[in-house]
Amino acid sequence: MKKAYVYKAFERFWHWMQAILILFLAFTGFEIHGSVSFFGFKNAVKYHNIAAVLFLILIVFAIFWHFTTGEWKQYIPTYKNIKAQANYYVFGIFRNEPHPTKKTVLSKLNPLQKLVYFGLKVLVIPVMVLSGLLYMFYRYPQANGVEGLNIGSVKVIALLHTAGAFLLVAFIIAHLYLITTGTTITSNLKAMLTGYEDLEEDEPKSEPEKKGSEKEMAEEVSNNEF
Ligand code: HEM
Repeated sequence: MKKAYVYKAFERFWHWMQAILILFLAFTGFEIHGSVSFFGFKNAVKYHNIAAVLFLILIVFAIFWHFTTGEWKQYIPTYKNIKAQANYYVFGIFRNEPHPTKKTVLSKLNPLQKLVYFGLKVLVIPVMVLSGLLYMFYRYPQANGVEGLNIGSVKVIALLHTAGAFLLVAFIIAHLYLITTGTTITSNLKAMLTGYEDLEEDEPKSEPEKKGSEKEMAEEVSNNEF
C-alpha cells in the first residue's frame, strides 16, 4: 500500500458543500412538500431558495473545475467490470473477497460509481436545477401579476422535482452505506476529508516468472486510463 493524494482541495470542498446543500435542500424541500415540520412553511421556502442559489453557484464552479482539470473524464461510464462490481456488492463483500477493481489516482471510481455519478451529473441534478428554477419563476395566481414564467400548471414541475428529491435521498442512503466498504470502514471517509488514501501499489514490472501475464498488466494499465 502507498499513500496517494486522491482528492484535491477543491474537490473535497465541492463534495462536502454539495453534501451539506443537498441535505439541507432535501430537508427544507420535504417541509415544503408537507412531510416534515421544523422551520415553518414560509421559512422553509425562504431557506430552500437561498440554498438553491448557493447550490447553483457551487455547480458553476464545479463544472469549471471538472473541465479545466480534465477530471470530468473520471465519470465516463464503462461496462467493463460492471458485472464483477455488482457481484462484489451483492455476494463478494460478504465473503471477504477482494475488490474487483483497483483504485488509482487516474481512475478513482469503480464502474458502478462512474455510472451512478454520471447519471446524477447529466440527469438528476440538471432535472432538479431546471424544475427548481421553473418552480421558482412560476407565476402563482396569488402573486398578483409578478412577472415570471407563464406556465399553465406547476404540477409536472412539482412531480419531477419531488421524484428527483426522492432519488437523491435514496442515493444519499446508499452512498452512506457504500463509503463504509473501502479498505477499512473509515478509509473512504478519511480520504474525502484529508485528500490522502492508502492505495495498492503497482506490481513490480520486473518479476521474472510473470512473463505470461504481461498482457494482463497492459490491460490493467489501460483500465486505469480514465
Ligand atoms: C438549484 C436547485 C433547486 C432549486 C432552484 C429549487 C427550487 C425549489 C422551489 C422554488 C420549490 C418550491 C417552493 C414553493 O413552493 O414556493 C422547491 C420545492 C421543493 N424542492 Fe427544491 N430546488 C432545488 C433543489 C432541490 C434539491 C436538491 C432537493 C432535494 C434533494 C429539493 C427538494 C424539493 C422538494 C421535496 C420540494 C417540494 C416539492 C413539492 O412538494 O411540490 N430541491 N424547490
